[in-house]
Amino acid sequence: MRTYLVTGGAGFIGSNYIQYMFQKYHNDIHIINIDALTYAGNLENLKDVANRENYTFIKADICDREAISAIFAKYDIDRVVHFAAESHVDRSIKNPEVFVQTNVLGTLVMLNCAKAAWETEDGFQAGKKFLHVSTDEVYGSLEKEDEYFYETTPYDPHSPYSASKASSDMIVKSYIDTFKFPANITNCSNNYGPYQFPEKLIPLIINNTLQGKKLPVYGDGKNVRDWLYVEDHAKAIDMVQELGTIGQTYNIGGHNEKQNIEIIHIIIDTIHDMLSDSDPRKAHVNTDLITYVADRKGHDRRYAIAPDKIKAEIGWQPETMFAEGIRKTIKWYFEHEDWMKNVTSGDYQKYYEEMYR
Ligand code: NAD
Ligand code: DAU
Repeated sequence: MRTYLVTGGAGFIGSNYIQYMFQKYHNDIHIINIDALTYAGNLENLKDVANRENYTFIKADICDREAISAIFAKYDIDRVVHFAAESHVDRSIKNPEVFVQTNVLGTLVMLNCAKAAWETEDGFQAGKKFLHVSTDEVYGSLEKEDEYFYETTPYDPHSPYSASKASSDMIVKSYIDTFKFPANITNCSNNYGPYQFPEKLIPLIINNTLQGKKLPVYGDGKNVRDWLYVEDHAKAIDMVQELGTIGQTYNIGGHNEKQNIEIIHIIIDTIHDMLSDSDPRKAHVNTDLITYVADRKGHDRRYAIAPDKIKAEIGWQPETMFAEGIRKTIKWYFEHEDWMKNVTSGDYQKYYEEMYR
């Protein structure tokens, strides 16, 4: 049985990935999820898998070298999938230190512990693989409409978040080049889907629309992001790890560029369409909620991934059309009002104490 060490598995993408992997591999894999349970980590996301015999949760900080090396000593880890990070750009503008700490130094701890556990006299144990999950934001901002991010695009990060992710990518790359460390890097565009923390645009707009609260649009609302349904990202990560060439970087994107204001209109229209006429919330679901607010500092104008390499070499391409993905996402938030209540009230942080006391 192959053993995975997933970091940050209680977050948005990590929890979707773990669920995807159990749906795909059932009892053929063991997943160890290590997560520090910051404000973004929520074990409720994993309650459907929590009692599986082939799932282990360990509360640990990736910066804690002793804790991480003890996990490598206890388990024979075959795959590392490294999601754990501080992930929100606005927070990085207010408080950059923790981004450098977790994203840069935490990644270094993960690399050193995996390297120490897997190293042999003449290289690394066969079959061991480390995947570093990164972002398209490392490439900076596109100004012209016909420009795209390729794996060869020079790094040009602007926010403290993207600078910390770029630094972590460089460190992984240095381990690949210096030690022939068996790693891949993936750089993905904006994800959306179930379990996303409502500080990010899509869940924030869904939640506020349902509650009749203002919908804050930064700047002129014309910044462009390339949206990918989170399950498609989970599938891409698995395919890169199994089919990709060791040492290579793969860009992952949705072929789905939209201005923020378009996203907001789509969400309002879809929610309006999905609510029954007798639902009292329907009355306030309209564009009057849209409110233009001060722009994000250093706001990148446009991201757009060219996922040509992953398609040509691995056969992955995005499967979920945005119209379908956003309906599935909104339906999930309709059906998980308690999840949203717990998250917005902070109650989810008590879940760990109750579950694991
Ligand atoms: P998230 O903020 O939802 O989850 C991050 C998880 O990491 C949380 O569970 C948190 O508790 C955990 N964590 C944070 N600091 C930790 C530490 N020191 N030790 C252990 N665990 C810690 O993030 P996400 O949106 O799921 O993103 C996951 C990864 O994917 C990140 O590396 C991010 O840079 C990358 N990424 C995200 C997107 C996106 O659109 N969300 C797109 C591309 C790449
Ligand atoms: O591109 C990948 C990145 O996507 C990931 O690496 C990050 O972890 C992830 O958070 C995301 O970063 P963004 O900054 O693009 O996502 P966010 O949801 O914060 O914002 C999306 C766009 O919407 C961005 O142009 C800012 C704008 N926005 C955001 C919020 C929260 C608003 O206009 N209003 C808002 O209230």
